[in-house]
Amino acid sequence: MSVHSEIKRVTTHTLQWMKQNNEKISMLTAYDYSMARILDGAGIDVLLVGDSASNVMAGNSTTLPITLDHMIYHAQSVMRGIERCLVIVDLPFGSYQGNSKKALESSIRVMKETGAHAIKLEGGKDECESIARIVSAGVPVMGHLGLTPQSINKFGTYSVRAKEVEEAETLVENAHALQEAGCFSIVLEKIPASLGKRVAEELKIPVIGIGAGMHMDGQVLVMHDMLGITKDFSPKFLRRYLDLYDEMTKATQHYISDVKNGSFPNETEQY
Ligand code: KIV
Repeated sequence: MSVHSEIKRVTTHTLQWMKQNNEKISMLTAYDYSMARILDGAGIDVLLVGDSASNVMAGNSTTLPITLDHMIYHAQSVMRGIERCLVIVDLPFGSYQGNSKKALESSIRVMKETGAHAIKLEGGKDECESIARIVSAGVPVMGHLGLTPQSINKFGTYSVRAKEVEEAETLVENAHALQEAGCFSIVLEKIPASLGKRVAEELKIPVIGIGAGMHMDGQVLVMHDMLGITKDFSPKFLRRYLDLYDEMTKATQHYISDVKNGSFPNETEQY
């Protein structure tokens, strides 16, 4: 049986089952009702209301400015559009770091106000106290290691992470710590494929990759990148399935021209 075709509702347990049965997990980001409806209807397993909304929806150069209220608004919109997939919401920068009480309060707000199914946060051992507290309150937590965009000012670049042995060992230790703290899954971003393979093999929980190679239990992409809405972002790991930027430009130019030359609306398009 393939969970993809059979299941009515994807849960965190479904993802665990998929790992155990070698069925890859498909995950994309979503930030609004209309797109969530299309992606869920297409059969995506997981939608992430990512703080990448700060970049692709709001036009910021980093994920830092987005607030918990913004994330809740996006998550509420996504939840109205889905029937089947699991929805995970990013805790934004400043809503959890270094304060487990605040981390729990932020998670509870997300769950209460959006109806989403889980939260995601960035970081390793430093966040384990918060993760354990959130999980014990009944909220599933996804971890995020490797390139962690909320720490961009600490690292200064978006380059591949954990290429050196020491950083790779630290990442593996952090991955185990997240699993021990109770995470149901983790995301690994922009790391060597061999390291991704090692983590996916060592961990019992599903490991989802973005730029972490082919051996992951699942893959995630930012929806705007996958559909070609973003034009200037072309990392090696990205596969574009559409060129929506160009398609939408052409459609808009066609519309402008029809309005200007009076061919829209025609006689059948009026009352
Ligand atoms: O916010 C986001 O889109 C993410 C993905 C890159 C995993 O965290």
